[in-house]
Amino acid sequence: MKSDKKMRGLLVKLAQQEGFKGKAEQTALIQTHGKLGVSRVILLGLGARVKFTPEVLRLALGRGIKAANRLRAKTAVIQVPGVRELDASLQAIVEGAVLGSYRYDKWRTTNRDEKSAPRVDKVQLLLPDGVKKDKSMDATVAIAKAIGDAACFARDLVNEPAGTMTPTILAEQAKAMAKDAGLGLHVFDRKKIEELKMGMFLGVARGSVEEPKFIHLSYTPADPAHAKRAPVALVGKAITFDSGGLSLKPSEGMLEMKTDMAGSAAVLGAMKVIAKLKPPFPVHGFMGACENMPSGNAYRLGDVLVSRLGKTVEITNTDAEGRLVLGDVLAYANELKPAAIIDLATLTGACIVALGPWVAGAFGEDDQLMWSVLEAARASGEEVWRLPLTDTLKDVLKSEIADMKNAGDRNGGSITAAHFLKEFVGDTPWVHLDIAGPSNVSKEKGYMSRGGTGFGVRTLVEYIRRRTAELETAVDEPAES
Ligand code: BES
Ligand code: MN
Ligand code: ZN
Repeated sequence: MKSDKKMRGLLVKLAQQEGFKGKAEQTALIQTHGKLGVSRVILLGLGARVKFTPEVLRLALGRGIKAANRLRAKTAVIQVPGVRELDASLQAIVEGAVLGSYRYDKWRTTNRDEKSAPRVDKVQLLLPDGVKKDKSMDATVAIAKAIGDAACFARDLVNEPAGTMTPTILAEQAKAMAKDAGLGLHVFDRKKIEELKMGMFLGVARGSVEEPKFIHLSYTPADPAHAKRAPVALVGKAITFDSGGLSLKPSEGMLEMKTDMAGSAAVLGAMKVIAKLKPPFPVHGFMGACENMPSGNAYRLGDVLVSRLGKTVEITNTDAEGRLVLGDVLAYANELKPAAIIDLATLTGACIVALGPWVAGAFGEDDQLMWSVLEAARASGEEVWRLPLTDTLKDVLKSEIADMKNAGDRNGGSITAAHFLKEFVGDTPWVHLDIAGPSNVSKEKGYMSRGGTGFGVRTLVEYIRRRTAELETAVDEPAES
């Protein structure tokens, strides 16, 4: 389809007949009856010019690919609009197309027609008039494809039922990915976690017959000078099922708790792309995988757990389990003396109450790292909003009998959770992302389908890319001693 003037005129006329005004989220289908090089045209509204961002395109492409699949199309030709940020737009288009193609149907045995129906498996990009293809565009498309695929990989991990996404299976998935991507991997079992004195992690894991797994992925640059640099540590919550433990959740709340490992899925997805990007500094991924279950061996309310750092914690609610596991894992990650720690966790329902289901909360006191993460999130089209680690809520976790307790009251619940985590990262620049809302959605939208979203993969990858660009433009940076 060459977009010459005559054809454009015809399309505009047909679009008008369809009542298509290009509003955001508006989609129109036009049959071409052989008049164009394609059989059908899907028009995707991009909304008001002043509100345009690459994310608008990403969402539109998701809608477009979903529509094309409903039409049983096998090939999609995408006309790239002539916009200012062409590189970011190309990336968004490819990510939107890959993410919009995602389906989780591995457990469906009925509705086979739907499963075996033709789907778009070839996408062709048409550049705007007057724009020539160059090598950097190929690179952009390749990275965007890798990011989209990695987010789909994360979605698969999140959508898998907890019975078949146990800590052991999650560790096996990490192992397969690491092998494929060329990343280093250590998986520690219960005995090793005991040796590491991760008393909070072990406390949570106790109630389940599933063995906990501590997963450590690492990317090391080939250049020894780069390998010596301070690493970035990515930490993901990996509760493969959160029943609440003895503080049992009601059924409705428990139903979606197979998704309580979405933080680790984001870290695994991001590491997969980072292995390809090969940044000039090491990157580590850490996750403490276990189930939170009630049983005769479960940790009790009132128990005191001793963390790896030696701090003691009185358990006032066994459903505040994520912070316990994360606390020990963050302390371990911090021992590498990283330049930055970013953790992602489906940590609190309170964060959904505060920001709604589409926006993640960000916590941390290092303004520089905070802005880097917020900018990376904005550029990648993931919505993240900073919440305060206010001192006014610091005392909520004071315990009568131990150094602290693990849960406060309902008020400011995501803030007190972040205060708890802060105890385990020392002075290291750290950002905590509470992704309880956007890690999975109950409504499809744009490039998202119901269930896991892969939220966090794009922000983490963008953060690493920006850090790489910063290091590469820094002149004569003295080596780390
Ligand atoms: N995994 C949950 C948080 C959550 C809730 C994620 C809803 C996604 C949707 C977490 O472990 C939890 O149970 N948090 C409690 C903390 C409370 C007991 C202090 C919560 O949010 O209610
Ligand atoms: Mn919980
Ligand atoms: Zn949880």
